[in-house]
Amino acid sequence: MKIKNICCIGAGYVGGPTMAVIALKCKDILVNVVDINLERINAWNNKDLTMLPIYEPGLDQIIKKCRNKNLFFSNDLNTGIKNADMIFISVNTPTKSQGIGAGEASDLRWIELSARQIAENSTGHTIVVEKSTLPVRTAETIKNILESQNKTGKNKGETTFSVLSNPEFLAEGTAINNLINPDRVLIGGDDDVAIDKLGSIYERWINPKKIIKTNLWSSELSKLTANAFLAQRVSSINSISAICESSGANIKEVTKAIGMDSRIGANFLQSGPGFGGSCFKKDILNIIYLCNFYGLNEVADYWSSVLKINRWQQKRISKTIIEKLFNTIAGKKISILGFAYKANTNDTRESPAISIAKDLLNEDALLAIYDPKVSAKQITKDLDSKQLNEKQIFNKNSGWYLSKSINETFNGADAIIILTDWEEFKKLNLKEISNLMRKPAWIFDTRNLIDLEKEDLYGINIWSLGNT
Ligand code: UDX
Ligand code: ADP
Repeated sequence: MKIKNICCIGAGYVGGPTMAVIALKCKDILVNVVDINLERINAWNNKDLTMLPIYEPGLDQIIKKCRNKNLFFSNDLNTGIKNADMIFISVNTPTKSQGIGAGEASDLRWIELSARQIAENSTGHTIVVEKSTLPVRTAETIKNILESQNKTGKNKGETTFSVLSNPEFLAEGTAINNLINPDRVLIGGDDDVAIDKLGSIYERWINPKKIIKTNLWSSELSKLTANAFLAQRVSSINSISAICESSGANIKEVTKAIGMDSRIGANFLQSGPGFGGSCFKKDILNIIYLCNFYGLNEVADYWSSVLKINRWQQKRISKTIIEKLFNTIAGKKISILGFAYKANTNDTRESPAISIAKDLLNEDALLAIYDPKVSAKQITKDLDSKQLNEKQIFNKNSGWYLSKSINETFNGADAIIILTDWEEFKKLNLKEISNLMRKPAWIFDTRNLIDLEKEDLYGINIWSLGNT
C-alpha cells in the first residue's frame, strides 16, 4: 500500500517547512498539518503570505503553490489523525523547568499527548514518525502508549503501529534548501516495510544513497550528537576569540588558517555572541542527562563545559560593553542590532540577545532594538517587560523599544551592539552613523561584520570580537 495521506502534528519551525516541501515534491499525497494552537493555524492560512507564523526564505512561495491543494493547515487533530497512513510528530520538546531532571531532561508532555491522541483516533495500520528532537529511547515511550491503547482503547485490537525515528537536520534560515538538498536523511527503526515507505517518499527528490537506515536508538542519538558537535565547534572558536583579544592574535586570521585544514573544515568556525536556537542547548542537556543516568560523569562534564563557555561568552560581552562605557550605562541610549539568534529567521529562542539585553537593562540602559523580522510581542515575552512609550523614550527612561527604522536607533546613541548577522548590518554607513551618535561613540561588533582593514570608522571606537 502506498502512502496517500500524511498528518503532521505540530505546525512549528520543523513541521511547517518540512511538510511544505513534502507537499511540493509529492503532489499525489495529501498533507494535513494540525496544531492545537489556533492562532498559529490561522496565521498559516492567512492570505497575506507576509503573515505566516514563521519567516523562512522561500517558504512563502511553496505555501502559495501547495496550500489548499495538497497541503492543509487545521486544528482538527482527530480527523487529521484518523485519515492518515503516516503521522509525523513535530511538537515542541523544551527542557523541563521543574521536577525530576529540571534544567536537563526534555519535557515530553506534548509528545505523550500526541501519542495518546494518535492511539485514540487512528484507524488501521499507521506509521508514526518522530521528527522532533528527542531524548534517546523516546520511541519506546511512544510505542508503549500506542500498544497499550490498542489493547484497551475504543478501537481495541484493530489498530497497529510502526514507530520510526526520522530526525530533522534543517537549520533555520536555510531550511528550504536543507530540505530540498539534504546532506543525508536518517531513518531509524526495525520495521523494514515502514522504513521503505518513508524512504520512498524522500526518494522522489533525494538520491537514495543519501538515505541512511539505522536502528531507532542510533538514529535518535545521531541527531543529538550532530547538534552537540556543531555547538562544540562554536564554543571552541568562541573560547579562542577570548585568547585572541588577550594575546594580539586576530580571530579571522586564526579561523582562516585552521579552516583550510581539510581535517577541520571551514564551517561552524565563526566566533560570535554564543550559540542560540531551540536545539543546541537542549540537545546537549539531553546528552548530559543521559550520561548522568548511565553514570558517565566525566562525559557529562565534558559536554557541560560546551554550555559553560556559551554562557560565559554572553556574559563577557555584557561586561565589556559596560566597562568600555565608563562602567555606567544608566540613562544611556544603546542601539541593539538584531534580536533573532541568527540571520534569516524571526526565531528568538535562546538568542544571546536576550541575556545581553537583560544584563544591560539591569544597569538601567535605554535599549533601541532593531530587527527586520522579530516582533515587539516576542521581545516583550523574552525580556519579560513591556516596551516604553514615546514619552518614556523621550525622557530617556530605562527600558527598551523596538524601532521600525535602523537609523533612529543611532540617534543620540552612545553605543551600537551588533548581535545578529543580518545581511543589512554588513553595509552600515559609518559616516552617517557617526554624525548621529553621541561622543565618545562605540560599536561592539560581536559578529565581525565590520571589516576593520577596509572601513574608516569616522571617529567611532570599535570593539570587535576576537581582536585587540
Ligand atoms: C541547528 C542545526 O544546525 C540543525 O541541523 C538542527 O536541525 C537544529 O539546530 P539552527 O539552530 O537552526 O540549526 O542554526 P545553526 O545555523 O546551527 O546555528 C545555531 C547557532 O550557532 C546560532 O546562534 C548561530 O549564530 C551560531 N553559530 C553558528 C555561530 O556562532 N558560529 C557558527 O560558525 C555557526
Ligand atoms: P519546533 O521548532 O520543534 O518546530 P515549535 O514550538 O515551533 O517547535 O512548534 C511546535 C508546535 O507543536 C507548536 O505550534 C505547538 O502548538 C504544537 N503542539 C504541541 N503539542 C501539540 C499537540 N499535542 N497537538 C498538536 N500540536 C501540538
